[in-house]
Amino acid sequence: MSPAEPLLRIQGLCTRFETDEGEVPAVDGATFDVWAGRTTGLVGESGCGKSLTALSVMRLVPEPGRICAGKLLWHGEDLLAKSAEEMRKLRGDRIAMVFQEPMTSLNPVFTIGDQISEVLRYHRDAGRGDARRRAVDLLAQVGVPDAGRRVDDFPHQLSGGQRQRVMLAMALACDPELLIADEPTTALDATVQVQILELLARLQRERQLGVLLITHDLGVVAESCDEVVVMYAGRVVEVGSAAELFSTPAHPYTAALLRSVPGRERGRGPLEVIPGAVPNLSRLPPGCRFRARCDRAISVCETVDPPLEPKRAGHLAACHAPVIPP
Ligand SMILES: Nc1ncnc2c1ncn2[C@@H]1O[C@H](COP(=O)(O)OP(=O)(O)OP(=O)(O)O)[C@@H](O)[C@H]1O
Ligand SMILES: [Mg+2]
Repeated sequence: MSPAEPLLRIQGLCTRFETDEGEVPAVDGATFDVWAGRTTGLVGESGCGKSLTALSVMRLVPEPGRICAGKLLWHGEDLLAKSAEEMRKLRGDRIAMVFQEPMTSLNPVFTIGDQISEVLRYHRDAGRGDARRRAVDLLAQVGVPDAGRRVDDFPHQLSGGQRQRVMLAMALACDPELLIADEPTTALDATVQVQILELLARLQRERQLGVLLITHDLGVVAESCDEVVVMYAGRVVEVGSAAELFSTPAHPYTAALLRSVPGRERGRGPLEVIPGAVPNLSRLPPGCRFRARCDRAISVCETVDPPLEPKRAGHLAACHAPVIPP
């Protein structure tokens, strides 16, 4: 059973970049919820705005990017109204993020133990000894072998997979309520991937952790997510339960993504690649952004950008075409 209020409610989020080519609406009106004890998957092709949605929630949008509209309701309070100091206190404590590029967020000149300890010392006022013991404990929990020795390693002494685990240990150090994980398993081999996803599932059961899981891997979504949000060219185009979205996708883009998944094609004809490319965000065509690649486009799609609206109970899509019955 879900609690009545989401942990995080993203409403009409717009994040833009001013560039020489014009305005780039990297996130354009994103609206969806993340719940305690549940995993929301955020999917879509490269460049569709997944990382920037996450960075917006953390209030860490890189220059020259700006959040220019919307609300980020955290337990009903708008994160956009919080001071920089209030955000620093929330970040790493109640809301934590595993970034897509682990090396950019690990400092090469400090040991991993020092970096995990730092989080605990800042947010929890932990003493040196306690913080170190907890760091070893966290490293062991995320599956770093021989954690008591590895704690004194520098980031460059670890493999990519181990660095990813260190990032996860840092993110989980303060027992957050919400974990945003941006492609946390992409760089890892299949066995390690499964272990990390199982760890997240366990934390979710034990601590009611809410997870926003960004991935391009629909297999991971099928395994781990309760809800799914599909983005296309800065827009949220479909939101629904994972089960329903996989069985009866309401947006032609989601349907096309599902057809393109390796493994699903067995016995169902060849793997499909979605023809065409994502439009240039600084020169968006009028009407629906997916129209040029859509096999179900009708004339209204040329002029009217479809709003995200309910197609079935709890299942939203931004599409003018009639829903194909299951
Ligand atoms: N510094 C920047 N200046 C201008 N535009 C930017 C900048 N950073 C990102 N963008 C734009 O924002 C869009 C969304 O980027 P984002 O990183 O959120 O994509 P993503 O969905 O995470 O992709 P990926 O799957 O490759 O990680 C990109 O298509 C790009 O056009
Ligand atoms: Mg990204």
